[in-house]
Amino acid sequence: MSKKQIKLGLSMRYMGYHVGAWRHPELKVDAASDFQSFLEVARTAERNKFDLLFLADGIGIRADDVPAGSLCRSSHNAELEPLTLLSAIAACTQRIGLVATASTTYNEPYHIARKYGSLDMISAGRAGWNVVTSWSEQEAWNFNRAKHLDYDTRYERAEEFVEVVTGLWDSWDQDAFVHDKHSSVFYDEGKLHVLGHVGKHFSVRGPLSVKRSPQGRPILVQAGTSEVGQQIAAQHCDIVFAAKQHIGSAQQYYASVKDRLAGFGRRREDLLMMVGLTPIVGSSRAHAQEKYEQLQELINPLVGLAMLKRSFGDLSAMDLDGPVPAPNLENVGLRSSAQMYYETAQREGLSIRQLYKRIGMAQEHLTVVGTGQDVADQMEAWIDEEAADGFNIAPTHLPHGIDDFVEYVLPELRRRGRFREEYEGSTLRENLGLSVPKSRFA
Ligand SMILES: Cc1cc2nc3c(=O)[nH]c(=O)nc-3n(C[C@H](O)[C@H](O)[C@H](O)COP(=O)(O)O)c2cc1C
Repeated sequence: MSKKQIKLGLSMRYMGYHVGAWRHPELKVDAASDFQSFLEVARTAERNKFDLLFLADGIGIRADDVPAGSLCRSSHNAELEPLTLLSAIAACTQRIGLVATASTTYNEPYHIARKYGSLDMISAGRAGWNVVTSWSEQEAWNFNRAKHLDYDTRYERAEEFVEVVTGLWDSWDQDAFVHDKHSSVFYDEGKLHVLGHVGKHFSVRGPLSVKRSPQGRPILVQAGTSEVGQQIAAQHCDIVFAAKQHIGSAQQYYASVKDRLAGFGRRREDLLMMVGLTPIVGSSRAHAQEKYEQLQELINPLVGLAMLKRSFGDLSAMDLDGPVPAPNLENVGLRSSAQMYYETAQREGLSIRQLYKRIGMAQEHLTVVGTGQDVADQMEAWIDEEAADGFNIAPTHLPHGIDDFVEYVLPELRRRGRFREEYEGSTLRENLGLSVPKSRFA
C-alpha cells in the first residue's frame, strides 16, 4: 500500500512567525511590506510543489502599547492586505493554492463571495478563504464599534455568514454560460439561481455576479477550536488549520472534527487537518540548536510580554522568572491559544520569561529543532497516527525558513515517498485530493 501523502502549506504573514524576525541579520527588515519578497518566497514554494500559500490576518494593529515601549519594538504594525497581495501573486504563479484570511465580523457576505470568487477565477481555481471571526478590540475600533462583538454573537454571525457566502457561490451552474452569439443568449436562464437569504444577521438576495470557478468554489479553511468552530468546519470547510504542540491533543482534535463529518453527509477525507509547524533545521542537531539560540536572543522582553498580554493580561509587574498565572478565559479573544499556552507552561514548568521566549519563536505552532531527518520523522509520525493530514509550515523568518526546509526536509520526505514530485492537478482542490462540492441548487 502506498504511504499517505503529506499536504503542505506555507504561511507567510510578516515574512516570519518569530516576533523578532525583523532583527535577524538574514532578513530584509521591511520584507512584510515588500511585494518582491513575498513573490520570491511564493515562487520557491511553487517550484517545490507546495499545495498552498497561506496568509493569516488581522484588520488593524492588534496591540496596544502594554507594557509601555512594546509597540514601537514590534514589526507587527505594517503589512500588506492579504487578498490584494495574493491577487498579485496569482498573476505570477500557475499552480500553487492561494489562501487568505478574512473576518466574518467586519465584512459583508456578498463582498467576500465576490472577492474570493474573483480570485478563484483569476487564478483558475486556486483560491481559498480562511474564515475567522476576529478577536481584538482594536479591530472593532476600526469598524464603527467601541467594543468587539461578544464571542457567541460572533460565531452565530459567522455560521450564517458562511451559509450565505457558499450559497452565493452556487449562484451559477458550471455550464450556465452558453455564449450563443447566433441566438443572442448569453446564459441559460435555468442555470442561474437566486439565493434569497433572509436570516437573523443578513438579508442577501443574490445572485452573485461572478461565475462558478473551475474548482467549483474557493476552498474554505477554519482555525477556531471551540464547539461552534468545529461545527462550522465539519459542515462547510475543506481544511482545519490547527495549532497543536502535542501529538495526543492533536489526535483528540483530529478525531473530534472528523467524527462530526458524517452528520453532515460528508466523508472523513473531505476535510483535511493541517497543523502549524515551525521547523528550525540545520545540517546537524548542533547546527539547528545554534540557530534556535540565536533566534531566542532576538526576542525583546517588552515584545515578549506584549505577546502574553493577549492571553494573560499584563504580567510586567510580576516576577518574570516565576510561574505563569492562569488566564481568565472569559476575557480573552483567543481562548484556544490562551488555554494551550497555559497548559504548556504547566506541563513543562515554564516561567513567564521561558513562556514568552517559547511562543515568541513560532507563536502557537509546533516547533521542531533538528536535522531534516528529525523533522521528517515527526511529520511522518503525526500523519500515520492520525494527528494531521498535512502541515502549514510557519517559518521563523523568510525566505531562509523555506530555503532550509527545501534543502533539508523536502528531500527526506520525498525519499520516504511522502511528498509529491509534481502537482497532480491544476486547481487547489485537485491537488488537495478534494472533490468539487455539489451546488445546493443541483
Ligand atoms: C492556527 C490558528 C490560526 C488563526 N489565524 C487567525 C487569523 O489569521 N486571523 C484571526 O483573526 N484569527 C485567527 N485565528 C483565531 C481563530 O479564528 C479563532 O477566532 C480563535 O481561535 C478563537 O476561537 P476558538 O475559541 O474557537 O479557538 C487563528 C487561530 C488558530 C488556532
